Amino acid sequence: MALYSEKVMDHFKNPRNVGKLDDADGIGEVGNARCGDIMKIYIKVENDIITDVKFNTFGCGSAIASSSMATEMIKGKPISEALELTNKAVAEALDGLPAHKLHCSVLAEEAIRSAIKDYYDKHGIDYDKSKFPDPTDEDEHGHDFDE
Ligand code: FES
Repeated sequence: MALYSEKVMDHFKNPRNVGKLDDADGIGEVGNARCGDIMKIYIKVENDIITDVKFNTFGCGSAIASSSMATEMIKGKPISEALELTNKAVAEALDGLPAHKLHCSVLAEEAIRSAIKDYYDKHGIDYDKSKFPDPTDEDEHGHDFDE
């Protein structure tokens, strides 16, 4: 079986929503310290709906495919739904990622949460801080990294 699914290859070769939003309402930037990859996500929000989203990922093919898929999955969706998007759901939507590449999809989940937090912060919206742990405080992601 091929290492990467056709969907991963498709989103890697033709990533959706690449770029930046100059008038973004929230920007999230996260990185994985071990591989050095960086993902930045921009969101535009109207009436609690993510009306537009773009990303810039300086990273591996799986990170690019994950950002592309994740942005597709939250576009047009309420913030509450975007907050529930897990890296597992992103990986499943891509028809799977190799085990040692799952951390790449974690970046997508974290970048979206970080962009939403930035939106809340910039717009003075109150939120449950416990739902936004600082990813740099945790040590649970990406430690199956073996490349
Ligand atoms: Fe770093 Fe994929 S995000 S190897």
